Amino acid sequence: MGRSRVFLLLFLLVWVTEGLTQPKFFNVMDYGAVGGGKTDNSKAFLKAWSDACQWNGKSRVVVPQGTFKLYPVIFSGPCNGPIAFVIRGTLKATTDPSSFSAHSWINFRYVDELTVSGGGTLDGQGASAWHLNNCKSNPQCQALPISMSFDFVTNAIVQRIKSYDSKNAHFKVFGCHNMDFRKIRISAPADSPNTDGIKIGSSYRIRIARSRIATGDDCVAIVEGSKRIHVSKVFCGPGHGISIGSLGGYANEDDVVGVVVKNCTFLGTSNGVRIKTWASPYASKASNFTFQDIFMDDVLNPITIDQEYCPNPPCSQQTSSSSVQISDITYKNIWGRSSSEVAVSLVCSKSRPCKNVVLENINLAHSNPPGRSSSVCLHAKGASHGSQTPPPCL
Ligand SMILES: *[C@@H]1O[C@H](CO)[C@@H](O)[C@H](O)[C@H]1NC(C)=O
Ligand SMILES: *[C@@H]1O[C@H](CO)[C@@H](O)[C@H](O)[C@H]1NC(C)=O
Repeated sequence: MGRSRVFLLLFLLVWVTEGLTQPKFFNVMDYGAVGGGKTDNSKAFLKAWSDACQWNGKSRVVVPQGTFKLYPVIFSGPCNGPIAFVIRGTLKATTDPSSFSAHSWINFRYVDELTVSGGGTLDGQGASAWHLNNCKSNPQCQALPISMSFDFVTNAIVQRIKSYDSKNAHFKVFGCHNMDFRKIRISAPADSPNTDGIKIGSSYRIRIARSRIATGDDCVAIVEGSKRIHVSKVFCGPGHGISIGSLGGYANEDDVVGVVVKNCTFLGTSNGVRIKTWASPYASKASNFTFQDIFMDDVLNPITIDQEYCPNPPCSQQTSSSSVQISDITYKNIWGRSSSEVAVSLVCSKSRPCKNVVLENINLAHSNPPGRSSSVCLHAKGASHGSQTPPPCL
């Protein structure tokens, strides 16, 4: 065989494999979607998803520029190939109260190899519903839809998506494995209730990176059954910080193991890095967490473990101490300013004291008025190394 024939064969081979890897596009406009933000597009979106999901090969659902009103939708797998959901325009939730009982607005479930991207926006229209979220003042309070949720999704990437004014959490991850969130922009007013940025539970290997979160509740909330969670280069504020918990709220909760929070910035938040558990009889473990290379400014409670968590007393099932065992927690290179005097508060369980808590190179001064900050330890065992402001209580 001549040299030119070999080249021709190679060329054909590359051309054919390229062809196989090109995704097939499913534009929602071809399914009758209408922009303008007035017409409900859920039927068109569901049909486009269904065809893309059944396609034997790579597929891509495309939402073009424009504003598309959307009632709650469930995009279900399993699909026949890798699938991308590309949002270039704005998806607008409805303010119709009949939709408020849905668990989520946009739900992906049982999908493997999912990508959600496109630089577009989820507009949750939360202002129409937040008043229903306050159970203290409103007996008609109810759980509102999460803007975008993922249930039993594996090997997924969510990137370059903006979420505004969610009714409940902006994003929620449940029962998922191997997911990356990158370059996410989240925003909701500081006083909007229950608007967690990204909430993770019962999931394994979830990474959040290069994202900006400004919201009314936790920027990132990591709850029971979360394992190997990695949060890096996240800017949080306003918001309630990055929280693990609350844990111990139910019987038979799964442990939270392996959380890394690195290279993050907190600005004007009520907490920085927080672990919270109810004082209840429900036992579980919270261990192997590292909080490292973190800058905080104007943060009310920069470093906190609260094992007596009870935001609205009296709390049900309340016991004298928490049954959640906290161990192997490292705080390293955390600097900036605390807006309250107590910059480090480690309030652990009397019956299960925290084990191996390490404070290393902490520099958190009291900003307002400028001065000495302090630390509080209760039933916390561990050590401190390097420079320490406030003076460590370990
Ligand atoms: C602790 O967590 C890190 C990060 O998730 C993980 O790589 C490591 O294997 C864990 N170590 C143990 C002893 O579980
Ligand atoms: C993380 O922060 C530390 C301390 O500021 C810095 O030295 C390091 O370069 C940062 N890492 C990345 C990947 O940005």
